[in-house]
Formats: sequence, structure tokens, C-alpha cells
Amino acid sequence: MTKYPRLPRHVAIIMDGNGRWAQKRGQPRYAGHKAGVKSVRTSVEQCAKLGIEVLTLFAFSSENWKRPKKEVRMLMELFMVALKKEVKRLNKNNVRLRIIGDRSAFDPALQKKIAESETATAENTGLVLQIAANYGGRWDITQVARQLAERVKAGELESSQITESMIAETLSFADLPDPDLFIRTGGEQRISNFMLWQTAYTELYFADVLWPDFDAEAFEGALASFRQRQRRFGKTGEQIDQETPENTEE
Ligand code: IPE
Ligand code: IPE
Ligand code: MG
Repeated sequence: MTKYPRLPRHVAIIMDGNGRWAQKRGQPRYAGHKAGVKSVRTSVEQCAKLGIEVLTLFAFSSENWKRPKKEVRMLMELFMVALKKEVKRLNKNNVRLRIIGDRSAFDPALQKKIAESETATAENTGLVLQIAANYGGRWDITQVARQLAERVKAGELESSQITESMIAETLSFADLPDPDLFIRTGGEQRISNFMLWQTAYTELYFADVLWPDFDAEAFEGALASFRQRQRRFGKTGEQIDQETPENTEE
């Protein structure tokens, strides 16, 4: 039987379902966010072990500011605590941390901690862990539009010279491959303003399991689904079969 890509280079996850996980246990929503940190550790370690190059986790969307003030405050606190606690473990696992999103909206102390954590892991050569915080796919495309408009205004560029690759190069993580596999836990089947441009050809995988219950086995389920898929990028299945004999398994 012909099989296709073995391992995604880049996995992107919407970690959803924390609030429901806690409510099911009669606990405040915050308890679910806290419990979700364990699943973050598990998926980071699994990606590092398997040799996946990039893991992007959606931690806080540009729309999540609309939540009750107390929940937003708790999430910011949790982010701060996690950065303080996890950097050692990231270094141990050779993981480079990067935060994507509009960080200017965060408290200055948190901004400082983000910068310090990035610096502390910058030399690591293994997995790149991207945390999307105050990130929105529309925000990302908008900041590209602004930058390119500035270049046109400065006379560096004609608008007719703007290409898809120029846009791609101006997005938040232009130096990394687009996600191959997108996972959303928590049962909803939507993108919720995660990476919009970069997921044009990403394989989508939706799991009912709530994020705090997303363990190594659940992750393996997503990877197994990915292995069954033929990525065609607009071509026919036959063309792909001929092009990628190295991906063929007897
Ligand atoms: C995802 O879990 C975490 C964040 C959005 C910060 P939710 O908090 O959205 O959990 P549900 O969807 O309400 O269960
Ligand atoms: C998406 O989850 C954002 C994160 C997981 C950080 P939401 O829970 O905010 O998404 P919606 O509102 O259900 O679409
Ligand atoms: Mg949710």
C-alpha cells in the first residue's frame, strides 16, 4: 500500500477545551488552564523525541481578551509562571522557544519575561516551540499589509511587484515551514483565527478529547491519521505517486 509523508515537519495545535474540562469537575475554568500545562509538556517532549522540527501552540487568541477580566488575568499569570518554570526543562530538551503575536499588549513584566525566555533558549538546536499569544491570523496578514504598504510608500517597491512569496516572507514566522498538521482538541471544528495564510495546505485533524486529557496516545492518533493522507497540492494522486517514490512503503 502506498503511504505518504511519514512525519510532519511542523505541527500546529489549538489547545481547546480547558474550561469544559474544569467545569465537568465542578472546578473554575482556571483549573482547566492549569491542568493543560501538563499536556503542553507531553506534546513538546513527544515532538522533541520524534524529531519534529516545529510545534506551534495556540495559547491566547487576539479575541480571547473578550473573556471575563478575571479569566484573562489568570491566563496572563499562568503564562508568566509557565515561562518562569519551564525554561530549564526546555533547555534540557534542546528546545528553542519563540512567542508569536502582538506582544505589545502584554504587561511590561510579561514582555520582559518573554524576551528573557527566548534569549535563554536561543542557542538550542532541536525543536522550535512557538507559542501563539495575542495572535490572530488576521492580525498577522494585516501587519504584512502595513509593512508592504510602507515599502511602496518609500518607493522601494511597486504594488504590482507584490508576490505571494513576498507576503509569506513578511508573516510572523517566515523562516519556518508552514504547518503540515493542524490539531484542534475540544471537539469544535473551526480555525478560530489561527494561522490563516499558512494553513492553506495543512492537513486538519479534530479531536473530541479536551486539551488537559490530550496525552501521548492521543497525539500519536493524530500522527497516525496524518500518515494515512495523500497531500496533493492541486495535483492528481497519480502524479504524486510518481513524484515521491521515497515515500512509498511496500
Ligand atoms: C482553550 O480552552 C484555552 C484558551 C482559549 C486560552 P478554553 O478556555 O477555550 O476551553 P473551553 O473551550 O471553554 O472548554
Ligand atoms: C481558540 O479557542 C483559541 C485558543 C485555544 C487559544 P477559543 O475557545 O477561543 O475558540 P472559539 O471562541 O471557541 O472559536
Ligand atoms: Mg474554547
